Amino acid sequence: MPIEITWLGHGTFSLTIGDQKVLIDPFLDDNPSAPVKAHDVAADIILISHGHYDHIADAAAIAKRTGATVYANFEVATWLHSKHKVQHTIGMNLGGAAQVPFGSIKLTLAHHSSSLPDGSYGGNPGGWLITAKNKRLYFACDTALFQDMAQIGAGGLDLAVLPIGDLFTMGPEDSLAAIQLLKPQKVAPAHYNTWPPIAQDASAWASAVKAKTSAEPIVVSPGGKFLI
Ligand code: NI
Ligand code: MN
Repeated sequence: MPIEITWLGHGTFSLTIGDQKVLIDPFLDDNPSAPVKAHDVAADIILISHGHYDHIADAAAIAKRTGATVYANFEVATWLHSKHKVQHTIGMNLGGAAQVPFGSIKLTLAHHSSSLPDGSYGGNPGGWLITAKNKRLYFACDTALFQDMAQIGAGGLDLAVLPIGDLFTMGPEDSLAAIQLLKPQKVAPAHYNTWPPIAQDASAWASAVKAKTSAEPIVVSPGGKFLI
Protein backbone atom coordinates (compact mmCIF):
# COMPACT_ATOMS: atom_id res chain seq x y z
CA MET A 1 0.00 0.00 0.00
CA PRO A 2 1.41 3.41 -0.89
CA ILE A 3 2.19 6.13 1.62
CA GLU A 4 -0.19 9.09 1.35
CA ILE A 5 1.36 12.50 1.92
CA THR A 6 -0.65 15.68 2.48
CA TRP A 7 0.98 19.11 2.46
CA LEU A 8 -0.69 21.27 5.11
CA GLY A 9 1.19 24.42 4.10
CA HIS A 10 4.63 25.74 5.11
CA GLY A 11 6.70 22.89 6.62
CA THR A 12 3.73 20.87 7.86
CA PHE A 13 3.02 17.44 6.38
CA SER A 14 0.66 14.63 7.32
CA LEU A 15 1.59 11.08 6.29
CA THR A 16 -0.71 8.08 6.31
CA ILE A 17 1.36 4.92 6.56
CA GLY A 18 -0.94 1.93 6.91
CA ASP A 19 -3.01 2.68 10.02
CA GLN A 20 -0.49 5.21 11.36
CA LYS A 21 -0.75 8.98 11.01
CA VAL A 22 2.53 10.87 11.14
CA LEU A 23 2.46 14.64 11.50
CA ILE A 24 5.59 16.66 10.75
CA ASP A 25 6.20 20.17 12.18
CA PRO A 26 2.59 21.12 12.97
CA PHE A 27 2.03 24.84 12.35
CA LEU A 28 -1.63 25.31 11.55
CA ASP A 29 -3.65 27.78 13.64
CA ASP A 30 -1.35 30.76 12.92
CA ASN A 31 -0.31 29.56 9.45
CA PRO A 32 -2.05 31.69 6.80
CA SER A 33 -1.63 28.93 4.20
CA ALA A 34 -2.89 26.01 6.28
CA PRO A 35 -6.11 24.37 4.98
CA VAL A 36 -7.01 22.92 8.40
CA LYS A 37 -6.79 23.91 12.06
CA ALA A 38 -4.89 22.09 14.77
CA HIS A 39 -8.04 20.55 16.25
CA ASP A 40 -8.83 18.92 12.88
CA VAL A 41 -5.72 16.76 12.46
CA ALA A 42 -5.06 13.21 13.58
CA ALA A 43 -1.69 11.98 14.77
CA ASP A 44 -0.15 8.85 16.21
CA ILE A 45 3.40 10.17 15.83
CA ILE A 46 4.54 13.80 15.66
CA LEU A 47 8.02 14.63 14.35
CA ILE A 48 9.55 18.01 15.18
CA SER A 49 12.58 19.18 13.21
CA HIS A 50 13.57 22.12 15.42
CA GLY A 51 12.27 24.57 17.99
CA HIS A 52 11.13 27.49 15.83
CA TYR A 53 7.55 28.60 16.29
CA ASP A 54 6.61 27.89 12.65
CA HIS A 55 7.44 24.19 13.25
CA ILE A 56 6.34 23.55 16.82
CA ALA A 57 3.39 25.93 17.35
CA ASP A 58 0.60 23.36 17.58
CA ALA A 59 2.64 20.32 18.61
CA ALA A 60 1.72 20.32 22.30
CA ALA A 61 -2.01 20.87 21.77
CA ILE A 62 -2.24 18.13 19.13
CA ALA A 63 -0.13 15.70 21.16
CA LYS A 64 -2.25 16.22 24.25
CA ARG A 65 -5.53 15.85 22.35
CA THR A 66 -4.49 12.77 20.37
CA GLY A 67 -2.07 11.10 22.79
CA ALA A 68 0.52 11.02 20.00
CA THR A 69 4.17 10.39 20.77
CA VAL A 70 6.39 13.34 19.88
CA TYR A 71 9.88 12.67 18.53
CA ALA A 72 12.31 15.59 18.52
CA ASN A 73 15.84 16.44 19.52
CA PHE A 74 16.47 16.01 23.24
CA GLU A 75 16.11 19.71 24.11
CA VAL A 76 12.83 20.17 22.22
CA ALA A 77 11.39 16.91 23.55
CA THR A 78 12.31 17.85 27.13
CA TRP A 79 10.79 21.33 26.70
CA LEU A 80 7.51 19.90 25.40
CA HIS A 81 7.36 17.47 28.31
CA SER A 82 8.35 19.82 31.13
CA LYS A 83 6.89 23.14 29.95
CA HIS A 84 3.82 21.91 28.07
CA LYS A 85 3.04 18.66 29.86
CA VAL A 86 3.15 16.52 26.72
CA GLN A 87 2.98 13.01 28.11
CA HIS A 88 4.72 10.95 25.43
CA THR A 89 7.99 12.41 24.16
CA ILE A 90 11.12 10.72 22.85
CA GLY A 91 14.29 12.80 22.77
CA MET A 92 16.84 12.00 20.10
CA ASN A 93 19.98 13.54 18.69
CA LEU A 94 21.54 13.90 15.27
CA GLY A 95 22.36 10.65 13.55
CA GLY A 96 20.16 8.62 15.87
CA ALA A 97 17.26 6.48 14.68
CA ALA A 98 14.22 5.23 16.53
CA GLN A 99 12.04 2.25 15.73
CA VAL A 100 8.37 3.04 15.19
CA PRO A 101 5.43 0.73 14.31
CA PHE A 102 5.85 1.24 10.55
CA GLY A 103 9.67 1.21 10.33
CA SER A 104 12.22 3.72 11.54
CA ILE A 105 12.85 7.44 11.76
CA LYS A 106 16.29 9.03 11.82
CA LEU A 107 17.18 12.55 12.88
CA THR A 108 19.50 13.89 10.18
CA LEU A 109 21.73 16.96 9.95
CA ALA A 110 20.38 20.39 9.12
CA HIS A 111 22.19 23.71 8.93
CA HIS A 112 19.84 26.20 10.59
CA SER A 113 19.09 27.31 14.18
CA SER A 114 16.66 26.06 16.82
CA SER A 115 15.66 28.45 19.63
CA LEU A 116 12.32 27.68 21.25
CA PRO A 117 9.43 30.20 21.26
CA ASP A 118 10.12 31.28 24.88
CA GLY A 119 13.83 31.76 24.15
CA SER A 120 14.90 28.40 25.63
CA TYR A 121 17.81 26.61 24.00
CA GLY A 122 16.38 24.31 21.34
CA GLY A 123 19.39 22.13 20.60
CA ASN A 124 20.45 21.45 17.02
CA PRO A 125 18.01 21.57 14.13
CA GLY A 126 17.46 18.40 12.12
CA GLY A 127 15.67 16.75 9.26
CA TRP A 128 13.91 13.38 9.15
CA LEU A 129 14.74 10.26 7.18
CA ILE A 130 11.71 7.96 7.33
CA THR A 131 11.96 4.31 6.36
CA ALA A 132 8.56 2.68 5.94
CA LYS A 133 7.16 -0.10 3.79
CA ASN A 134 10.48 -0.43 1.93
CA LYS A 135 10.33 3.26 1.04
CA ARG A 136 12.77 5.95 2.11
CA LEU A 137 11.50 9.49 2.51
CA TYR A 138 13.69 12.45 3.45
CA PHE A 139 12.23 15.65 4.89
CA ALA A 140 15.06 18.19 4.92
CA CYS A 141 12.93 20.64 6.93
CA ASP A 142 14.64 24.01 7.52
CA THR A 143 18.18 23.89 6.21
CA ALA A 144 20.78 25.36 3.94
CA LEU A 145 22.27 23.26 1.18
CA PHE A 146 25.06 21.03 2.49
CA GLN A 147 27.37 18.57 0.82
CA ASP A 148 26.56 15.72 3.25
CA MET A 149 23.14 15.46 1.62
CA ALA A 150 24.93 13.02 -0.69
CA GLN A 151 25.30 10.70 2.30
CA ILE A 152 21.61 10.98 3.19
CA GLY A 153 20.71 10.02 -0.37
CA ALA A 154 23.27 7.21 -0.60
CA GLY A 155 20.77 4.47 0.33
CA GLY A 156 18.33 5.66 -2.31
CA LEU A 157 15.36 7.95 -1.74
CA ASP A 158 11.82 7.54 -3.02
CA LEU A 159 11.05 11.11 -2.03
CA ALA A 160 12.89 14.21 -0.87
CA VAL A 161 11.00 17.21 0.51
CA LEU A 162 13.09 20.37 0.32
CA PRO A 163 12.52 23.96 1.37
CA ILE A 164 12.55 26.43 -1.52
CA GLY A 165 11.43 29.64 0.17
CA ASP A 166 14.89 31.19 0.45
CA LEU A 167 15.69 33.84 3.10
CA PHE A 168 15.42 31.44 6.09
CA THR A 169 16.38 28.24 4.22
CA MET A 170 17.83 27.23 0.88
CA GLY A 171 16.09 28.77 -2.09
CA PRO A 172 15.09 27.29 -5.45
CA GLU A 173 18.57 27.40 -6.98
CA ASP A 174 20.29 25.65 -4.07
CA SER A 175 17.47 23.10 -3.99
CA LEU A 176 18.53 21.99 -7.48
CA ALA A 177 22.03 21.31 -6.15
CA ALA A 178 20.48 19.47 -3.20
CA ILE A 179 18.51 17.26 -5.59
CA GLN A 180 21.70 16.48 -7.49
CA LEU A 181 23.31 15.34 -4.21
CA LEU A 182 20.29 13.45 -2.85
CA LYS A 183 19.24 11.83 -6.15
CA PRO A 184 15.64 11.17 -5.07
CA GLN A 185 13.09 9.60 -7.42
CA LYS A 186 10.61 12.36 -6.60
CA VAL A 187 10.96 15.76 -4.97
CA ALA A 188 8.42 18.09 -3.40
CA PRO A 189 8.89 21.70 -2.29
CA ALA A 190 8.05 23.15 1.14
CA HIS A 191 8.49 26.28 3.27
CA TYR A 192 7.39 28.76 0.60
CA ASN A 193 4.42 31.05 -0.16
CA THR A 194 3.39 31.20 3.49
CA TRP A 195 4.19 34.92 3.65
CA PRO A 196 5.48 37.41 1.02
CA PRO A 197 9.17 37.20 2.08
CA ILE A 198 9.27 33.52 1.07
CA ALA A 199 7.07 33.75 -2.04
CA GLN A 200 8.30 31.49 -4.86
CA ASP A 201 7.08 30.33 -8.27
CA ALA A 202 6.66 26.58 -7.73
CA SER A 203 5.85 25.82 -11.37
CA ALA A 204 9.06 27.55 -12.50
CA TRP A 205 10.89 25.52 -9.86
CA ALA A 206 9.30 22.30 -11.18
CA SER A 207 10.40 23.15 -14.73
CA ALA A 208 13.96 23.70 -13.53
CA VAL A 209 13.90 20.39 -11.64
CA LYS A 210 12.82 18.58 -14.83
CA ALA A 211 15.45 20.36 -16.93
CA LYS A 212 18.41 20.05 -14.57
CA THR A 213 17.89 16.90 -12.46
CA SER A 214 16.61 13.36 -12.91
CA ALA A 215 13.98 13.71 -10.16
CA GLU A 216 10.27 14.06 -10.79
CA PRO A 217 8.87 17.22 -9.15
CA ILE A 218 5.58 16.99 -7.29
CA VAL A 219 3.86 20.29 -6.62
CA VAL A 220 0.55 20.40 -4.75
CA SER A 221 -1.35 23.27 -3.15
CA PRO A 222 -1.82 23.32 0.63
CA GLY A 223 -4.27 20.52 1.41
CA GLY A 224 -3.12 18.59 -1.67
CA LYS A 225 -2.18 14.92 -1.43
CA PHE A 226 0.14 12.61 -3.31
CA LEU A 227 1.18 8.98 -3.08
CA ILE A 228 4.66 7.52 -2.75
NI1 NI B 1 13.33 27.45 11.34
MN1 MN C 1 10.79 27.56 9.42
